[in-house]
Amino acid sequence: MSPFQYRDSELCCEEVSLRALAAVVGTPAYVYSKASLLESLAGYGRAFHDVPHVVCYSVKANSNLGVLSVLAKAGAGADIVSGGELYRALRAGVPPKKIIFSGVGKSRDEMREALKADILMFNVESRAELRVLDEVALEMGIRAPVALRVNPDVDPQTHPYIATGLKTSKFGIPYHEAFEAYEEAATLKGLEVIGADMHIGSQLTKATPVADAVARVVALVKALRERRIEIRMIDIGGGLGIRYRDEKPPTHQEFATLLLPALREAGVTVLLEPGRSIVGNAGVLLTRVLYRKDTGAKKFVVVDGAMNDLIRPSLYGSYHEIVPVDQTRCARDLETVDVVGPICESGDFLAKDRELAQVEPEDLLAVMSAGAYGFVMASNYNTRPRAVEVLVDGNRYTIVRRRETYEDLVAGETAP
Ligand code: LLP
Repeated sequence: MSPFQYRDSELCCEEVSLRALAAVVGTPAYVYSKASLLESLAGYGRAFHDVPHVVCYSVKANSNLGVLSVLAKAGAGADIVSGGELYRALRAGVPPKKIIFSGVGKSRDEMREALKADILMFNVESRAELRVLDEVALEMGIRAPVALRVNPDVDPQTHPYIATGLKTSKFGIPYHEAFEAYEEAATLKGLEVIGADMHIGSQLTKATPVADAVARVVALVKALRERRIEIRMIDIGGGLGIRYRDEKPPTHQEFATLLLPALREAGVTVLLEPGRSIVGNAGVLLTRVLYRKDTGAKKFVVVDGAMNDLIRPSLYGSYHEIVPVDQTRCARDLETVDVVGPICESGDFLAKDRELAQVEPEDLLAVMSAGAYGFVMASNYNTRPRAVEVLVDGNRYTIVRRRETYEDLVAGETAP
């Protein structure tokens, strides 16, 4: 059940009224539910309980230290893609031996930092990267634990920007070259080959492409075993979709049921890298209506949240449900509006041609399903301070990141 429900006609996050919260912390504000984070993490735990597994939460989806530490305390590991994310994961208390490092462009410095931290595994995305990692590890006198990210060339049936497992994408080692890359990796003294990795895309609403990809990876693992290259872990990536509008993504259980037979047979530890499905529906962006504007050709609702706060509608044309915080507004007539922010771009919108109950200046709106790829993709465009982030737990809340100040915005800059 969503943690965002109306109580006494006010939209609440768990037991905290969003109206009362906005009066204290201001808007725009990101609000996350702790219970919801824990529930989705636990869903993976239940679905994969009968195989050895680690849920390595994909930090890129929402890297707030408050969010990370809740997940870390509940036993999650971390999937990171940069030195910055490594720093955050360690600061939040994620055990290094539950951290995996993915990404096509790891620098030598980032490799050194991760080797020093003694992480679980590097997901290596090219043969060139294999050789550099080998060199860096040898310089440090250690061996780097590696998996090769295999590009299984399956169509994940999602938005082209977030499809990663097609042969035309920049990610992973092409399936037909993977065997040879493993043979090379096995000869490199600075590497210890322990795993195989895949990730075919994000916001997947069907599990069958993932199952097809898993089957290909398992077949590779079996072939490698015949060459005495022993793979102990398969990282199946992240990507499970969420409901933004009317999507019906598989449940954790349905997802697991489809994938587990092949993984069980391979006898490996299963690693997962979910991001969106853990945090997406655990968060909203709270914004206040500033003005109504009717140009004759179109009606606009101008709000104080903008594309710099939530870029997904502008960048991917993605749909986020928008609801009034005051439920009595919902009884009003519907009108078709664009919900737009203050930024000087026509691409600055949170919704286009949306049927919305008539709202007035000062009304609060909740932009739903904004917990993943929301704040993390925010910018300071138009010199707008980034929003405050709040984590709700029952009837209490914590400001897990204060709103930026103008001083924050110019810190680090100097006039010559
Ligand atoms: N593992 C790897 C290697 C990834 O590239 C990603 C996401 C994940 C795991 C986590 O995927 P998830 O479970 O969150 O679907 N900004 C886009 C999404 C970009 C996803 C990038 N990679 C959006 O707002 O839809």
